[in-house]
Amino acid sequence: MRTRAEYASLARSPRLYRRTAERPETYWTAALGEPPAVYGERTAEQAGTLLRRWDPSRSKLGAAIARGWTEPLPRPGERWLYLGAASGTTASHVADLVGPAGAVFAVEKSLRSFARLLRLAGRYPNLGPILADARRPDDYLELVPPVDGLYLDLAQPDQAEIALANARRMLKRDGGLLLALKTSSMGRDLGPRGHLERTVAQLEDSFEVGPSMPLEPFHRKHYLVGAWATKRIALDAGGTPPARPPTRPPSRAAPPR
Ligand SMILES: C[S@@+](CC[C@H](N)C(=O)[O-])C[C@H]1O[C@@H](n2cnc3c(N)ncnc32)[C@H](O)[C@@H]1O
Repeated sequence: MRTRAEYASLARSPRLYRRTAERPETYWTAALGEPPAVYGERTAEQAGTLLRRWDPSRSKLGAAIARGWTEPLPRPGERWLYLGAASGTTASHVADLVGPAGAVFAVEKSLRSFARLLRLAGRYPNLGPILADARRPDDYLELVPPVDGLYLDLAQPDQAEIALANARRMLKRDGGLLLALKTSSMGRDLGPRGHLERTVAQLEDSFEVGPSMPLEPFHRKHYLVGAWATKRIALDAGGTPPARPPTRPPSRAAPPR
């Protein structure tokens, strides 16, 4: 545990911290969950706040932040829908960023990963795991209130379509989209840059597409794409929010089909 004031909170997402004493500088999130560490990451303490090192080689968003990503980023009090949560490595950091007043709805379809995610949620009060297929958003629509952000890391070729289907039902206008692209899972018809360009073109009608960033050297042939929902895709364009938004994320699975 370190005690010196050497971690600086970032204005663009105040529960994200930078430690400049290290070269290259490292990034940390204010831990919301109870110890121990989620995936063996280092921890530190500053002024009573427990911080968790965000390992860029274990997380696409962590890699983008280490490379200078600025926005969109999850912020305190926001609700994010996270598709492809696996066992919760990155989802736990997103849960840290949105903090106690926010929530992360974490969708995962692999039973094995979901079991680990469920255990993690036992000590992360704002993380709601949902066992479901992200291609079938209607299966979990009732569990998820309108969200401020949508994160996808599915390593699937049709991620743009999945993003559109989920955004249409659950993302608020001006809500952020973070889409991690694993271009090696997207077919051989195009190279990495071509897959990125095609994905951006698929999103452009519905989103204001912002920055995209290659994630080398942490993740080969991966990009992170950022965007914001326009009125053409957001809920007020015809999506159906659930009648009574839950105040806490669900700690149960979507019903099996
Ligand atoms: C690259 S891993 C995610 C890693 C995770 N985002 C992290 O950084 O900690 C991709 C995950 O997406 C899940 N997945 C793939 N297709 C899915 C689908 N259609 N619905 C839900 N989850 C899916 C896989 O089971 C896998 O756990």
